Amino acid sequence: MSDKNGDLEVHTGEALVSTTELVLAFPPLLGLDLGGHSLAEIQFERLRTTLQHAYDNNPHYRRTFNEMGVRPNDLSCLSDLSKFPFTTKSDLRTNYPFGFFSVPMNEVARIHASSGTTGKPTVVGYTQEDLANWATLIGRSLQVAGGRPGMKVHIAYGYGLFTGGLGAHFGAESSGYTVIPMSGGQTEKQVQLILDFEPDIIMVTPSYMLTILDEFRRKDVDPRSTSLKIGVFGAEPWTDAMRTEIETAFNIQAVDIYGLSEVMGPGVASEYAADKNGPTIWEDHFLAEIIDPSTCEVLPDGSYGELVFTSLTKQAMPVIRYRTRDLTCLLPGTRSPFRRLGRITGRSDDMLIIRGVNVFPTQIEEQLLRCEGLSPHYQMEIVRPHRMDEVTIRVEAKSDLAEDEHAAAAKRLAGYIKTAIGISATVTLCAPGSVERSSGKAVRVRDLRPKELVDAALC
Ligand code: DLL
Repeated sequence: MSDKNGDLEVHTGEALVSTTELVLAFPPLLGLDLGGHSLAEIQFERLRTTLQHAYDNNPHYRRTFNEMGVRPNDLSCLSDLSKFPFTTKSDLRTNYPFGFFSVPMNEVARIHASSGTTGKPTVVGYTQEDLANWATLIGRSLQVAGGRPGMKVHIAYGYGLFTGGLGAHFGAESSGYTVIPMSGGQTEKQVQLILDFEPDIIMVTPSYMLTILDEFRRKDVDPRSTSLKIGVFGAEPWTDAMRTEIETAFNIQAVDIYGLSEVMGPGVASEYAADKNGPTIWEDHFLAEIIDPSTCEVLPDGSYGELVFTSLTKQAMPVIRYRTRDLTCLLPGTRSPFRRLGRITGRSDDMLIIRGVNVFPTQIEEQLLRCEGLSPHYQMEIVRPHRMDEVTIRVEAKSDLAEDEHAAAAKRLAGYIKTAIGISATVTLCAPGSVERSSGKAVRVRDLRPKELVDAALC
């Protein structure tokens, strides 16, 4: 991929050109200043600094680098990154809560968290400079979506520990947009504020946008009559069919924004409205690799595998070769020097995204074990009959649980799941021995949502 100058070759759809030419050919991206260097040179410098910072200030990285016999200065070109160890969600969990922070605590300006495989979330931290970079990348993501400072942005991603709401909020606000911090839920109010405050842009999960659409129809208000022009949708997999439905129903441009808490949050990659051909990865801040999830071998661009990210500018919590578990491929850039993501077609672990909430089956098990009278035999079924995911959990009652106590036990479990994980589930109790047993790995999850969510449309 690299030419002799370390400059990347990128396919623009017409001809192979160097990144330097591309940077000149397209309008400047917010916050992108290569200062006369090639992208590869900038990435190399940033990568070397990040590896050194991680080695010097994060005991986990110092140990794992030592175990693999590598030192930051073993990096002599970008592809040497493959000599360095991977990082996983469980590494973050082992170092809960702040063991991965690589700056003194008094330099950490913000903390977010995302679901762990069990009760403890994975915790992430940001310095002021990290927050400023994040804000720039949200601003850049809005820019390529067709947004311009002065526009109003209605943010319906959840606010709180989830990176969606606050990440989008500060990015839009500091890039000159007027922010409407609505957060998720209260669907009637969402519609009311869209009608009254007249936003130009909405940022929300695509499945919740469809719920908002239903509310417009229920109220008999024409969704095409609103002020909305652009929707920036992400945090969960969605399809081109959903894009077409949303664009047609609201008469807006719908683009895809990708991100994950461990790497930053929303805005690691985002889609150009002009192309809608997959999110462009902001590779001046994150280096992407695709690996075979079973052998961990690095695969060439265009191959389908697990996405791995290394941060290039993060201070509070640099991540080296973080295994996202998202399955996708890397595609050449079309409008910028940076590569694009293909459609996310699934995950290499068992994490589910239910109504935009990340859920691991082990989290359900954990709640189940808190309930007296319930056995650990359960099966979870997820369907999407209308717009939204619906979850049913069948659990075996223990033989000593009286029939007339079943309803109360089911309600208790549903309550625990709602409080601890944040999703609503219908729990039904069944007789001992009635949940199907497997001779191998238990089949805990039946995901019956539309098949097209796992179509590799862009690869
Ligand atoms: O979902 C960050 C985010 C917020 C992204 C708002 C976009 C918009 P987590 O909660 O850590 O962070 O979940 C990260 O969500 O590894 C993917 O599996 C999935 N995901 C995020 N964006 C997309 C997308 C946020 N555009 C996990 N398409 C990731 C498909 C997505 N999956």
